Amino acid sequence: MINYKDLGLVNTREMFKKAVDGGYAIPAFNFNNMEQLQAIIMAAAETKSPVILQVSKGARQYANQTLLRYMAEGAVEYAKELGWENPQVVLHLDHGDSFETCKSCIDMGFSSVMIDGSHLPYEENVALTKKVVEYAHQFDVTVEGELGVLAGVEDEVSAAESHYTKPEEVVDFVTKTGCDSLAISIGTSHGAFKFTPEQCTLDPETGRLLPPPLAFDVLAAIEEQLPGFPIVLHGSSSVPQDEVDTINKYGGALKAAVGIPEEQLRKASKSAVCKINIDSDSRLAMTAAVREVFAQKPAEFDPRKYLGPARDNMKKLYIHKIKEVLGSDNKA
Ligand code: G3H
Ligand code: 13P
Ligand code: ZN
Repeated sequence: MINYKDLGLVNTREMFKKAVDGGYAIPAFNFNNMEQLQAIIMAAAETKSPVILQVSKGARQYANQTLLRYMAEGAVEYAKELGWENPQVVLHLDHGDSFETCKSCIDMGFSSVMIDGSHLPYEENVALTKKVVEYAHQFDVTVEGELGVLAGVEDEVSAAESHYTKPEEVVDFVTKTGCDSLAISIGTSHGAFKFTPEQCTLDPETGRLLPPPLAFDVLAAIEEQLPGFPIVLHGSSSVPQDEVDTINKYGGALKAAVGIPEEQLRKASKSAVCKINIDSDSRLAMTAAVREVFAQKPAEFDPRKYLGPARDNMKKLYIHKIKEVLGSDNKA
């Protein structure tokens, strides 16, 4: 049993309270490899932003959960080397799919876990989330639960369409489970194709697809039920069109990619939404930079020559999110 406090990590409790009170949101960035982790830590250290490092089921399969955990421990030390005296870094399991997975992460030093029972019947979601909370709280590890199903694919959880969180269920869920934060469904979804072209309107000036707005009325109703309770938004990539254009220019085929507009995330960050999950945008930034190097320097074969620019591009993206969208800079 390794306690995350010995690794220099923190849980989400105080971080979320400050974010809700201060009207900003903490970035939760997924990582699968060293370059992503370096870019996240460089961006957080440079902006003095609290940060959540997220490990998904896919990341655990790709890179190994133990290795990722040691990388996160190294990241805390790296942050200090970069001049961030008191790094506020959370290591979080994203979309935990069972009690056993959550326990295994807690036992090896994660400071926060998500148990995603959103696809289960309500009472089963309550029972599973409660079981994880009871275990996690013995070690002061914080737990994110989820109510409502996002459109698209949530790891193994798939839903043809989104089922918004029912505001009338949230008090009962939070009270019965004791979870520390709640992921909700208000129209976001995972991946780079969040809306079909039919769901969007065409901006006549830019020719871009404009997605429908998030269900801020549902968010307001949830906040009314649970004043000040930490709310989480998954599927919050904005799918930057310049990255998509670069990918397509250099041989990619991402046609109708569309994300959540930044203004909507800015608005959400000012509410009880205190954790915003971003993965796809980092994938796009990395892919765009790698494709550009491959197209412009076809003789290059030193991975540092294309992963380095990919890292720079991700760092730029993370800093932009922190400073211009979530407002979490200078909060740590
Ligand atoms: O919520 C999903 C995340 O984007 C992680 O996806 O399982 O492919 O790593 P992944
Ligand atoms: P995106 O696919 O929008 O980046 O969402 C990531 C996410 O919710 C991870 O849990
Ligand atoms: Zn998610």
